[in-house]
Parts: sequence; structure tokens; C-alpha cells
Amino acid sequence: MTNAHADWWKQAVVYQVYPRSFYDANGDGLGDIAGATAKIDYLAALGVDAIWLSPFYPSPLIDGGYDVADYRDVDPRLGTLEDFDKMAAAAHAAGMKVIVDIVPNHTSTEHEWFRAALAAGPGSPERDRYIFRPGRGEHGELPPNGWKSTFGGPAWEPVGDGEWYLHLFAVEQADLNWKNPEVHEDFKTTLRFWSDRGADGFRIDVAHALAKDIDSRPLEDWPDDPGQSSLAQSGSGDENPLWDRPEVHDIYREWRQVFNEYEPARFAVGEAWVAPEHQWMYASTDELGQVFNFEFAKKNWFAADFRLAIEEGLDAAERSKSTTTWVLSNHDVPRHATRFALPQVPSSTHHQIATDWLLRDGTTYYEDREAGTRRSRAALLMELGLPGSVYLYQGEELGLFEVADIPWGALEDPQAQMTAHGDAIKGRDGCRVPLPWTSLDATGDFGFSGPADHAAPHLPQPAWFAQFAVDVEEGDEASMLSFYRAALALRRALIVPTGDTSLAWDEANAGDVVAYQRPLADGRTLVSMTNFGAAPAALPAGEVLIASAELVDGKLPQDASAWIACA
Ligand code: GLC
Repeated sequence: MTNAHADWWKQAVVYQVYPRSFYDANGDGLGDIAGATAKIDYLAALGVDAIWLSPFYPSPLIDGGYDVADYRDVDPRLGTLEDFDKMAAAAHAAGMKVIVDIVPNHTSTEHEWFRAALAAGPGSPERDRYIFRPGRGEHGELPPNGWKSTFGGPAWEPVGDGEWYLHLFAVEQADLNWKNPEVHEDFKTTLRFWSDRGADGFRIDVAHALAKDIDSRPLEDWPDDPGQSSLAQSGSGDENPLWDRPEVHDIYREWRQVFNEYEPARFAVGEAWVAPEHQWMYASTDELGQVFNFEFAKKNWFAADFRLAIEEGLDAAERSKSTTTWVLSNHDVPRHATRFALPQVPSSTHHQIATDWLLRDGTTYYEDREAGTRRSRAALLMELGLPGSVYLYQGEELGLFEVADIPWGALEDPQAQMTAHGDAIKGRDGCRVPLPWTSLDATGDFGFSGPADHAAPHLPQPAWFAQFAVDVEEGDEASMLSFYRAALALRRALIVPTGDTSLAWDEANAGDVVAYQRPLADGRTLVSMTNFGAAPAALPAGEVLIASAELVDGKLPQDASAWIACA
């Protein structure tokens, strides 16, 4: 088993649990750690190698827990440290690794450090843990400069004594000062804390933002918009004061020493929305080891786009001397079943269509759910056959679509904002709706909460969730869940054990067909083929191991993938 191996993460399938929306064991309408423990068997049956839990730490939950008030505890609404221990033990007993989320760019303004910074006043060592600067104007009534927050509005907030603090995200998320040695020490303590408690690895939130150049020129001389949105960021290197700066890599080299104190060494994957030609640096083995490659999540359904994404991912893997990752969905992007169901336009506009569609409660474009499902199935085989790790997001194995019509008043995401000026967005709650476990909606939550007597789920579930409930799909061989289980089992049995990460493009790889070859553990060669075009594509001679749709006269129809084992 690859799991016993120190390199387990290089070819892993990691399942992202968004704890508040996964399963609610105590009936308060919020998913919790005990809920994850209760569903370990489900995840083991799915066939994943590891679970990554989005933040479950004490938090005012302004940004779904990415506003951390205490890095070394569990939010009482989500459980206790003992619950974490039980969850980790259950995962390990089932042969799964546990990955926790580290949020080092900012703390919640409820973190004790931030409170101390406010109390201590300008010039204090307490303020130096954050990025406080005097305001402009006679009494400091103007922000230090015009930088904007990723969530909209100014990136500076006044604290009433002439100083302002920097927040690249919500006002309640204050950016830490990574030039301060105490900040370094504290995060190393946190990494050791969770490693000692059984975490096998870490997901590093906005890994490209930590190092900042605030002082090499007067603040007001910086442009207002230095690529301030992490999504817009395109690897502008040391020209950019805020994102993807070269010094950020020193931090990860320091962390690598901590990871290597453990046996096996702890693993890390960085979230860095930077250009592909910069991503690999975060993944080098003297730094984090792995970085999310988000190119799949950005692509629309075109063969050339996916081919390019695969090439870029493989190139990054080679440069980092590690493996790359493949991601179709996560808690920050509209679900891919919906992305693939909406009109497909060249990928330069990747999420724009879905964002517009969401803004109008899903009424602007026709959501062709059949196409979305077909393409999601096809995309899964294309993804799972590739060398590297695959990150799945909870609910994609059920084929869930984005929930577009959550009423504005029920939205939780700080990104959601309704303005009169046309720059409104609905945010990311549509992919964070609590999962449907049972089709029966007897107690109004599709089995999301364990106790019969429970609070309403923290985000409303649509009636159509009934068709996608785990209990329905488990009993249906044609369901998305059954398809995920079958494909994951094949990958685990036949592809991963070779340890060979080579890929060759197949001769059929041209035009509307994406086709590649990989070695199989039984000595045969896998051909993975995906047909994006209207004309059915001929398959090579061999055994069809799995197909995402029924073949038509022995050929692969449009929007379908197949794995063929060739002699
Ligand atoms: C990352 C998280 C996102 C969060 C942001 C700020 O991008 O994935 O959910 O809002 O960081 O912490």
C-alpha cells in the first residue's frame, strides 16, 4: 500500500471536507468534527487516501473559519480537541491520512494577538505582529494608500488612533507581519502541535501572500491595484508588493525543517493562485512539496484547454521535482457540474459565466444539467488517470450542482455583496450547502443532522438535493457515486502501484480528443481517452476498463471518457 510509504502524498486522492457542511452529529445545524468521524466509513468505501479538513478552529466564522481566533484548538461549535483525536484515530484506522488547514496570512481580529495589538497602541511590539501604518491626512483620517481588499472595499481599516491595519481579505481578517520573528515561531509551534496530534499534512491557505514589501517605497507610491485579487494574480514576481514575492519561499524552507522533524516527514500543499510558471517553486521538495494546480478548475469544456492544463501541470511537476495536483472543484469555486452545464466560452473568462449566472439566481443562462453530468463523469476519468494527486471536493462524488438561488439574506460568504453599481457578486455559498445524506426530507435537512430533533442547516438546501442523496446513489449502479467508487478503485489497483509517473501522449490525442498513455501495474498500458467533439471517436484495441458513458457502436461518444488497457 502506498499509504505506508513516506511518499504517500505524491499519488494520493485527497477528499476535502468543509466541516460546517459535511455532517452534523450534534444537531445544531452546523457540521462538526464528530460528523466527519461518523462518516469515515463512507470515505473509506469511496476509496480516498486522505481527508483534508477546512478550518475547524475557534472562529467568529466571518469567512467560513478562514478567520482563525486560535490556531491550536477546536471551535466549540464543531467539537473539542478530543473529538479531533478520535477523528484522526478513526481515519488512520481506516488507512486514511489527515490534512489540516493552516491560515498563516491573517488572523481573526478576535485572535488574542490582535486584541493585544489594539490595546497596546502605536509603536508597540504587539502591533508589530500585524501591519499597522499611520493614515494619511492631518489626523490620519485617510488610508495609508489605495490598496483594495480581495473581498471588495479598502484593504486598510482605521483603529481610531491614527493607525490603520492591512487586511487583504475581510475587515475581520488582519494580515500578519511575516518580518516579525514571533510570527515565525508561533506558526512553527502550530505545525508541531497538529503534527503531534496526528496530522499527516497541511494545506496552506493563500500561501503566496505572506511576504510583503510594504516599506521599500512610500506607501502612497504603490499603484492602487497591484494585482490585488489573488485570482487575477499572474506571477508578477518581485514587482508586486503583496503577492507571490520571492521572500515567501524562505518561510517555506524554514517550515520544511519542521516537517522533516517527523517520521515520515509531514507533507504540505500550498494554495497559491499564481501563474503556472511560478507555481512549481512552492512545490519544490525543500519547501511545501506540493501546490494546487488550479488549471482544471479554470477551464471550460474544450479539448485544447485541458490538453494545455495537463501539459502545464506535468511541466510544473518536472520543474519542482515533485508531483503536481489536479483540482476540479473546491469551496471557493462554483461546482464543476454546473460550470460544465453553463454555456462554454474560451477559458479566459473562466468563472465569469457562473458568477453572472449566480448573481441572477441561476436565471440568465440555461443550466444543461445532463451535459454537466456527462462532462463531470468524463472529466473525472481524465483527471484520475493522470500522474500526481487528485483533490476532490465534498459532494462532487454525488454530482451536486451549484445552488444558485440561496436568498441574499441567507448568504454567509463575506464575498457576497449586493451593490447598486453593478459589481455585485453572490459569493461562494452555493458550493457550501450542507450535504444530502438521505433522500427523505422528513426532518427538513436530508439527513444532514444526526439527531431527529435538530436546528435548520446553516444554509438552506434545495428540494432537488433529494435525487443526489447518498442513500439514493448508493443503491444505483449508474449514479455518480458508484462511478467515483469504481474509478477510484481502478486507479488504486492498477495505476498508482507502479510508482511510475510518466505519461505519453497517445496518437489519438488531436483535435477534439484528449488521449494519453500510462503504465499499468499488470504490465499493460492504459489509454485514457476523452472525446469533446460531436463525432464518436474510435478506441484502440484492448480491454475497456471503465467508460463514463455507453459506447456507441464501439466508439466513444461526445463528452465521454474511457480507460482502455492495451497489451
Ligand atoms: C483561501 C481560502 C478561502 C478564504 C481565503 C482567505 O483562498 O480558500 O476560502 O476566503 O483564503 O482566507
